[in-house]
Amino acid sequence: MNLISIVYILIIVYLFKILIDLIRGQAIYFPLPKNTIRKMLKLAKVNRKDVLYDLGSGDGRVLRIAVKEFKVKKAIGIEKSLILFLISKILNKISKLEDKIEVKWKDFFKEDLSKATVITLYLNFGVMKKLEEKIIKECKNVRIVSAAHKFPNLKYKKKIKTGHFYCYLYEI
Ligand SMILES: C[S@@+](CC[C@H](N)C(=O)[O-])C[C@H]1O[C@@H](n2cnc3c(N)ncnc32)[C@H](O)[C@@H]1O
Repeated sequence: MNLISIVYILIIVYLFKILIDLIRGQAIYFPLPKNTIRKMLKLAKVNRKDVLYDLGSGDGRVLRIAVKEFKVKKAIGIEKSLILFLISKILNKISKLEDKIEVKWKDFFKEDLSKATVITLYLNFGVMKKLEEKIIKECKNVRIVSAAHKFPNLKYKKKIKTGHFYCYLYEI
């Protein structure tokens, strides 16, 4: 088997995995535009006292903006895709932000969120109910900004339009 065949097989496996995730109602990778991230962090009044968690952190862009521009104390990203986890580790190293950013290769439903003061998310409708239950159970004094999707029961405090969707701010 030559290299091109291996690349083809890897691409097919990756696309198949995306399809399975979509069928199972899981959030697939779609990065937020950087200006939307800035608007989301402004909406939550993110500042140097905050410990920010990005649930499903993709390539880690939310974490780097939170540290570089909003000076958060610590930014933690939880990402289940190994490739994205590794990419974000490399980008954090290149940006020299490793001391303030931690990325975990993990399912965020298995992470304790009780230390978060801010949580950001850009997921999909299918996970919002289960995540809402987890956050209510574990978190106190936390601001949550969700891009595009609302929680089914919690009432948002504010919403802003960013591009073609809204971002919702919750306070618990
Ligand atoms: C729409 S992307 C958002 C990426 C990033 N937060 C951003 O704004 O650029 C959603 C990400 O969540 C990840 N994800 C979905 N479900 C997850 C789970 N249960 N645990 C960890 N990561 C998850 C996906 O792999 C994907 O990278």
